[in-house]
Amino acid sequence: MCGIIGYVGARPCKELVLSGLEHLEYRGYDSSGLVLVGEHGLDRARAVGPVKALRAVAGGVSETATAGMGHTRWATHGGVEERNAHPFLSEDGRFAVLMNGIFENYIDLRAQVTAKGHTLTSDTDTEALVHMIEEEYDGDIAETCRRIFPRLEGHFAFLAMAIDEPDRIVAARLAWPPLVVGRGEGENYIASFTPAFLEQTRMIQIVDESELVIVTADNVEFRAIADGSPREHEIERADDSIEVAAKGGYESFMLKEIHEQPTAIADTIAERFHHGELHLDGFGLSDDDLREINRVLIVGCGTALHSGLVGRYLIEEWGGVATEADVASEWRYRNGVFDPKTLVLAISQSGETADTLAAMQIAKERGARVVAVTNIMGSAIARAADGVLYTRAGLEIGVAASKTFTAQVTLMTLIALHLGAVRGHLSPEDVALIGGELRELPDLVQQLLDDKELDAQLDMLADRFCHDRFFLYLGRHLGLPICQEGALKLKEISYIPTDAYAAGEMKHGPIALLGEDTPVVAVATDSHVFEKMASNLEEVRARGAHVIAVATAGNTSIEAHAEHVLYVPRTRPELQPILAVIPLQLLAYKITGRLGLDVDRPRNLAKTVTVE
Ligand code: F6R
Repeated sequence: MCGIIGYVGARPCKELVLSGLEHLEYRGYDSSGLVLVGEHGLDRARAVGPVKALRAVAGGVSETATAGMGHTRWATHGGVEERNAHPFLSEDGRFAVLMNGIFENYIDLRAQVTAKGHTLTSDTDTEALVHMIEEEYDGDIAETCRRIFPRLEGHFAFLAMAIDEPDRIVAARLAWPPLVVGRGEGENYIASFTPAFLEQTRMIQIVDESELVIVTADNVEFRAIADGSPREHEIERADDSIEVAAKGGYESFMLKEIHEQPTAIADTIAERFHHGELHLDGFGLSDDDLREINRVLIVGCGTALHSGLVGRYLIEEWGGVATEADVASEWRYRNGVFDPKTLVLAISQSGETADTLAAMQIAKERGARVVAVTNIMGSAIARAADGVLYTRAGLEIGVAASKTFTAQVTLMTLIALHLGAVRGHLSPEDVALIGGELRELPDLVQQLLDDKELDAQLDMLADRFCHDRFFLYLGRHLGLPICQEGALKLKEISYIPTDAYAAGEMKHGPIALLGEDTPVVAVATDSHVFEKMASNLEEVRARGAHVIAVATAGNTSIEAHAEHVLYVPRTRPELQPILAVIPLQLLAYKITGRLGLDVDRPRNLAKTVTVE
């Protein structure tokens, strides 16, 4: 979850590296650093905090260097301190290394280099590598790294430089941390993600696992780690535009992404319906296989899991197949019992989440069929699955997920419809009807986002409740995962403690939390559990708490049970989650704004979580 960029070319590159790091900052931002090939050796600067802190100290680093590399860090081994920020230099200052990922055998590696007389200056796993390189360097940094590589265990992507070979950067990766090459004219880039260099070039080459890359100004050479044999990669054009990586007029990425939801939903549905018929390609399983499935298991983390929880209801309802959803980090350590008739859906926006990847790998080993649901093409989870279904939300930069959640719920809806259709639980007419209503959702979401009255109401609520010390979220059935998502949004960006509970469970404990002024957010859109929700809200009101209910436009009966009602447009109950979550995202957003916090970069969080 760190960000990496390297450049070799003819232009002074300090600014290219710094701006590349700024585009990668959403991946990790507790410290950053760069190293450039200066006139008198490797020139390094590091700083704790965002990249702007690095800018402030980078003044003393070479202005003329035409090769260098940078790193933005999300701490794993070692605290957030400058001495733990990458890049690391060897004691003689001739070598530099930076890394995304983890060396799992770092204790051994650190012991080995210490035994050879090296002094470690950081608490990180990465630093050992630079000392190993110094120890074993034979005039060829590429071959030195290739020889050392098999001794590194874990999942990682690293870049290395040697001052004796100032015109090259060597990179290598193992397991899921990605690396991508950017090909320019007389210059080349290597980074963990394309936005790092998209302003300069769109021509890319994806680096494979266990591959070594040698980047020079005029050439990029790929070699197999195993035997050093040459590897070929086509040069492709990157679809992502750099514009998506800019805020496009919004005050934050999160707000921009909330407003991109109509497009994200529409793009996720697009082309998957022809004349009312659903065509969901990518399962990697035939219709016969899908008919044989006797169980669906959904795994994911955080927001992705919440979308899976919505999917669970829909798949049971429409697909007629037993479905459960579990936290990937828990499920992977359970002795899950299943067989080849179990379909596992692994949901991950980034496609890199370590726990989700591990859960799907275990499921595969035990014979299940695994389908990935992700937003990132070619990501680790996409590569490891039997089939891949993509959400098409575009790049999401705000750390708190918004548009990828609604895109995931949209895709889960399509999956449920598809299973219902092939398994004969839904008629073609049902699919066409529900599909028609699904295709109206982008307009309904847009309507909600444009609703001035709702906006004013949310402003009023944010002003009134932003200093409250606790929010309880209550929902039933499909409203429950939406409450869980709303509660997660508020706690992760505003740091206000929240809890989300099944409304029917409230009297079994959480009701004790309610005081005279506790804000209670309820999802009470029209459904077969509406009346039950209404009674639960009465129990809440009897304790003096303030009820803020999300309800369906036209159902004013909710006003007898709630102090504030946020109406969302009417659609069929199964599609309501996509609408109901929007006011909850906006409420969390506005409260956080009132508190003066950075919505895009909540403390301690990272956009991609590639560690357990
Ligand atoms: C919350 C959020 C996280 C992610 C979780 C899984 O806003 O974004 O809870 O949903 O870290 O990430 P992915 O979907 O990349 O596997």
